[in-house]
Amino acid sequence: MRSRVLSGMRPTGAMHLGHYHGALKNWVRLQQEHECFFFVADWHALTTHYEERGVMERYVYDMVIDWIAAGLDPEACTLFIQSRLPEHAELFTLLAMGTPLGWLERVPTYKDQIEKLKDRDLATYGFLGYPLLQAADILIYKATYVPVGEDQSSHVELTREVARRFNNLYGRGSDHDARVAAALAKLPKDDARYYERQRKAFGETGSAEALAKGEGMVRKAAAAVAGWSSDDGELLLGHLKGSGQTVLVEPQALHTEVLRLPGTDGTKMSKSYGNAILMRDEPAEVTKKVRGMATDPARGRRTDPGDPAKCPVWQFHKVYSDPATQQWVVEGCKSAGIGCLDCKQPVIDAIVKEQQPWRERAEAYLTNPKQVHWIVEMGTERARTVARQTMKDVRTAMGLNY
Ligand code: TRP
Ligand code: SF4
Repeated sequence: MRSRVLSGMRPTGAMHLGHYHGALKNWVRLQQEHECFFFVADWHALTTHYEERGVMERYVYDMVIDWIAAGLDPEACTLFIQSRLPEHAELFTLLAMGTPLGWLERVPTYKDQIEKLKDRDLATYGFLGYPLLQAADILIYKATYVPVGEDQSSHVELTREVARRFNNLYGRGSDHDARVAAALAKLPKDDARYYERQRKAFGETGSAEALAKGEGMVRKAAAAVAGWSSDDGELLLGHLKGSGQTVLVEPQALHTEVLRLPGTDGTKMSKSYGNAILMRDEPAEVTKKVRGMATDPARGRRTDPGDPAKCPVWQFHKVYSDPATQQWVVEGCKSAGIGCLDCKQPVIDAIVKEQQPWRERAEAYLTNPKQVHWIVEMGTERARTVARQTMKDVRTAMGLNY
């Protein structure tokens, strides 16, 4: 069975090359192998930019157009907008009840961001709670994998803890004992007794050996016992550890190696720093931006040798150039055999070429915005089917389905 993948991005408007090489390229690859859900995290944008209105709608659709331009296929994956699914908010509220404050205060991005974004008042409830909202986004789709940057690892870790706690608190249900007894009754008597002995031992001493023996037993039953179901197996494996049934699934972060593309000034590429090359920049704009890029400061004059390791243009060559070109750069730079503008030309050519299919795909949607709205509409309804089912399970587990 294909695993489910979920990821989201805050709506920041038109995407730049950093977004493409840092995330989108990976999403495009994943959509072939997995069942993918990608969403616009517009509520997340409000956790830091709650005072801004009027830009959001444009940002949302500009971003989705670039997702599709990059190669996300609305037939192959599900594209949607967070705020269209109040189910995310419901799960967030329910999870909030039992989530210790300390878990949120300890998330490293919390203090970091407050430090970094000093010009904003982030002493808000929404900002503290935002990793929990992210946990709800992930858990509501029972996602197995979450492709995110390293900076988001702690959020996925929190999501796992939240899921574990939920399953422990609510995974038993009122008929849990009866279901365990029914599953045990399917086992040969000796095996059932053996299982109970291991479960007791593990519960009392935490013995890893007892746990392994018990698990081995359950796995053996799956192959040997007539009428055994995977639900029976899952139930007994959970019962063995004293945990409940898996209502919410613990996800795994998926960090693929990405080559970081710096901005034109050598710092992190970001639209707000004014150093970004956009996916949809015209060739003339790309040329201007790359020609203006910072280089190794040692190359003040054409005759001064330089070092690619100290030059942001080299980072682009690592992404865009073949080994022969890379060698030409290294030798030419160190010997002052080439000038920086010579060096930049293959990068310009490669970016313009890469952009060609993006421009063509984006064109269709820019002239017909209704089509993008329609794609998002379809995706939102597909997502809703899954989110609704999870909320049913969650309400039942919590005893709220009256
Ligand atoms: N917090 C992520 C970011 O700022 C965006 C995000 C929100 C997300 N919900 C998510 C990412 C769920 C992955 C899964 O980049
Ligand atoms: Fe950078 Fe190329 Fe100039 Fe060397 S020659 S400093 S790698 S732009």
